[in-house]
Amino acid sequence: MSASLHTPLCDLLGSRYPIVQTAMGWVARPELVAASCNAGAFGFLAAASLRAEEVGPAIRRVRELTEKPFGVNFHMFQPGAAQIVDTIIAEKVRAVSFGRGPDKAMIKRFRDAGIVCMPTVGAVKHAQKMVEMGVDAITIQGGEGGGHTGSVPTTILLPQVLDAVKVPVVAAGGFSDGRGLAAALAFGAVGVAMGTRFLMTRDCPVPEPTKARYVKARLEDIVLTTRVDGMQHRLIRNEVLGQFEQAGPARLLLSALHNAWQLKRRTGASIAELLHAARQMQREGGLTFGQALMAANSPVLLQRSMIEGQPAEGIMATGTVAGAIGDLPSCAELVERIVREAEQRLAALAAGRYGKQDV
Ligand SMILES: Cc1cc2nc3c(=O)[nH]c(=O)nc-3n(C[C@H](O)[C@H](O)[C@H](O)COP(=O)(O)O)c2cc1C
Repeated sequence: MSASLHTPLCDLLGSRYPIVQTAMGWVARPELVAASCNAGAFGFLAAASLRAEEVGPAIRRVRELTEKPFGVNFHMFQPGAAQIVDTIIAEKVRAVSFGRGPDKAMIKRFRDAGIVCMPTVGAVKHAQKMVEMGVDAITIQGGEGGGHTGSVPTTILLPQVLDAVKVPVVAAGGFSDGRGLAAALAFGAVGVAMGTRFLMTRDCPVPEPTKARYVKARLEDIVLTTRVDGMQHRLIRNEVLGQFEQAGPARLLLSALHNAWQLKRRTGASIAELLHAARQMQREGGLTFGQALMAANSPVLLQRSMIEGQPAEGIMATGTVAGAIGDLPSCAELVERIVREAEQRLAALAAGRYGKQDV
């Protein structure tokens, strides 16, 4: 292993390489997490798309598939969040990631249990707030990143956050290869985190018809929209997105109510629990009433693509980078190739060889 690729992130997370497979709802299931970890990266299990009682068994399933350390991602607005926190602490996973909504007491509980807190943020002020609350490290997600995303590009957000906080920073949003890893390290990050690139692997358990749509997508097929759940969401253009774009207010309201009902059935949450989650999203997540009402659209429609393998009937969250990726390697092939390429780039720069012809 190259010493240059052993960064403080490897020590913090216990991974071989400074490469993180991020959490993706309905995608980062035990099979993908274990394959990422076995390849030398650090995987996050997506628990935001699990019922509270499913989290413990999913963690134990990852442990059946790998002996390597891994993390869990969840969010504070999901039904059963308090129970999920207890489960993560009882299971003593290596790290947790979360978006907005955590408080100081929760972060202290994780840290007292020896669990690394590494939230993802899309803005400098959120990074600063998380650091004030006591987190160990920050992942920044630039605007080109997958799923719900901000608007500041990675190349602008990363140096801003590096200047603003003292904890280690991991770069996410648009990374897929070793050149990106070398560039992130040159910026001062301790590693990269990637979602879309790990989704587009053979080890990812998303059904083949859906993965084929990702491979086929070109840059112009990838759009940022607020039509599905009121928040900025980057998606591959498809039949369902077309329907959302053409729908009037009545149709949008009907589909929001229909999907809220579907979510209630899937999660087993009561109407009171869903209303409570919606109120929390409004109060602490800064969402409008309309956005909170539409919040069930994404999980229900993601499930259709990612679990049921019906890409024409669901939505496909993605980073812009899917438009530049055209293959489905295994996680081992992917990590090996990223590491080799990053080492080549870093060695070339260290030797004063600039430009692509000199690699
Ligand atoms: C299909 C999909 C689902 C996602 N679901 C989640 C999620 O449940 N929780 C979360 O914090 N981030 C989620 N994200 C964001 C990723 O964790 C990650 O930050 C992002 O994909 C990084 O950008 P990249 O795709 O360009 O690598 C999702 C991204 C994708 C593509």
